[in-house]
Amino acid sequence: MKVLVIGGGGREHAIVKKLKENKKIDCIYALPGNGGIGKDSICVPIGAKETDKIVGFAQNEGIDYAVVAPDDPLVLGLVDELERVGIKCFGPDKKAAIIEGSKVFSKNLMKKYSIPTAQYEVFDKAESALAYLETAPIPTVIKADGLALGKGVIIAKTRDEAKKAVFEIMENKKFGDSGNSIVIEEFLEGPEVSVLSFTDGKTIVPMVSSMDHKRACDGDLGLNTGGMGTVAPNPYYTEEIAKECMKKIFLPTVEAMNSEGRTFKGCLYFGLMLTKDGPKVIEYNCRFGDPETQVVLPLLESDLFEIMNAVTEERLSEIEVKFSKKSACCVVMASKGYPEHYEKGFEISIPESEKPYVYVAGAELRNDRLVTSGGRVLGAVAVEDNLEDAINSAYNRAAKIKFDNAYYRTDIGKKALLVQKEGIL
Ligand code: AMP
Ligand code: GLY
Repeated sequence: MKVLVIGGGGREHAIVKKLKENKKIDCIYALPGNGGIGKDSICVPIGAKETDKIVGFAQNEGIDYAVVAPDDPLVLGLVDELERVGIKCFGPDKKAAIIEGSKVFSKNLMKKYSIPTAQYEVFDKAESALAYLETAPIPTVIKADGLALGKGVIIAKTRDEAKKAVFEIMENKKFGDSGNSIVIEEFLEGPEVSVLSFTDGKTIVPMVSSMDHKRACDGDLGLNTGGMGTVAPNPYYTEEIAKECMKKIFLPTVEAMNSEGRTFKGCLYFGLMLTKDGPKVIEYNCRFGDPETQVVLPLLESDLFEIMNAVTEERLSEIEVKFSKKSACCVVMASKGYPEHYEKGFEISIPESEKPYVYVAGAELRNDRLVTSGGRVLGAVAVEDNLEDAINSAYNRAAKIKFDNAYYRTDIGKKALLVQKEGIL
């Protein structure tokens, strides 16, 4: 069987490695993949948004199954196009991917179906947004409606900051058409939890919970990034909270999408905040999270392809989805200066023994040598019996990987460990 994976980051590397465990799969192609993914699959230089080329490639190569991992192609409708030519896919169609593609849509969905989330207002004109901000509670949160490479959310601590954000998004079009409408919402407080789930629109199966570390520097300081590291499970996410989320958030979301005629099939990601009034949805993603996938999939004991195929065929309820009781940690090694300016092109050395646990994100092959090509370069991952050992092993692994200007946080999982040890909830 021939499988295609769309995308080229650490998340896709984790997906490719997990799919390789299935013996029925003879060949995996990654479009475009990256220098590291090329060791585990055949990379083809076609971009994730080049819909026509992807469909043409899939037809010519006789691809049996496609996994569409990133948000952009999902929101653009790549799954619809592949299915139109008879290729089975994992990922939501365009109608369902709007749950991530439009924050206005997702906020209105939650309001209509009483799914707990922050209070909000929607604006499509800068003047009315600015007028509202004259009296809005501060801090406040400004969100561009559409996709913005994870940068479309601004937490404004002052009224001036909030107004500036509105101006940048709506007048200066910092995120292009993604800022034609904005959501201004209540600032919530509490620990954050990521829960990825498999759903076929009938059944929803949450995966093991995880904790992302979004800020660039230790102590959650510095700029927001695409994610500097993750741990799983997330100790804040107790059995009791999981049950509450299933009842008040997960099942109602699946049902809400069905009622809207937008059945969601694929990986539905819940970004949750555990507030003093209970868990609330901060965001939905229509895909696997990055770098959450790098800690969640190594803990999956069941066969990933069998689960994905069951989602596509709407028989998820018949399949066992089993996670290990162990813990995982991913330390993201980045280029110094990320998420702002950084240099690229440095050779990366990874000892052979560590390679199975390294998920490559921003690196390319030059004359058969792996060199840095992005801000987040790779994730060093470890799975151990407990969280403390997983963190230590991941850091030991990172220390053995060398490239010039390498930078990583030194406190990934530290807060989680404290919560687990001292029960600080
Ligand atoms: P997002 O790009 O939607 O993942 O948002 C980025 C980050 O902004 C989240 O992970 C939260 O830390 C924060 N955030 C988003 N919405 C809110 C909110 N209503 N209150 C507080 N923090 C928020
Ligand atoms: N780690 C957050 C995301 O994938 O959007």
